[in-house]
Amino acid sequence: MGTKNIAVIVGSLRKESISRKIAENLIALAPSSLKPAIVEIGDLPLYNLDLETEAPPPSWQRFRDQVRAAQGLLFVTPEFNRSVPGALKNAIDVGSRPYGKSVWAGKPGAIVSGSIGNIGGFGANHALRQSMVFLDVPLMQQPEVYLSGFDKLVQPDGSLVPTTQEFLRKFMHAFAAWVDKIAGS
Ligand SMILES: Cc1cc2nc3c(=O)[nH]c(=O)nc-3n(C[C@H](O)[C@H](O)[C@H](O)COP(=O)(O)O)c2cc1C
Repeated sequence: MGTKNIAVIVGSLRKESISRKIAENLIALAPSSLKPAIVEIGDLPLYNLDLETEAPPPSWQRFRDQVRAAQGLLFVTPEFNRSVPGALKNAIDVGSRPYGKSVWAGKPGAIVSGSIGNIGGFGANHALRQSMVFLDVPLMQQPEVYLSGFDKLVQPDGSLVPTTQEFLRKFMHAFAAWVDKIAGS
């Protein structure tokens, strides 16, 4: 079975982001069939068709190349105003163009959403699913992951509380099986 590169895309840009800490833990929990790595989105200029020339912004190129090279997608995102953060939506838009050359289509994906509140980023999770349907990304359906109060799930040393760690370990194994099913083992 070949190892699959997984593009991990984090919806928050801030240094102390809890989403990023969760993403780092997910990377550590991945089974050996997956090789996940964060693909940065913070330096992508806002999508503007006028920049879609023969020499688009270098960070757009870098982002598109990194996602294209991945065999799977793992989104880890907080919720902003009941939807995805603008930075994440921008990254999705950048990857979707030029028209006909989307880097997303056909790649197996999964979503982990979270928030400091009680509904675990449900709005962001499903707003993201809406875009992924259009972009033809087959998303894992189960287990769904909505991390409520996620600031309390990450310990001061960056590790997860044991129950969340166990839950996310199972999630990563299910995701590996999903990637194999869609992308071939
Ligand atoms: C602009 C903005 C909008 C937010 N909207 C929501 C929201 O709709 N639902 C929610 O549960 N939390 C919301 N929050 C709180 C986030 O859950 C919290 O800031 C979280 O820690 C952000 O994720 P991060 O730690 O990865 O940056 C919002 C935060 C910001 C800055």
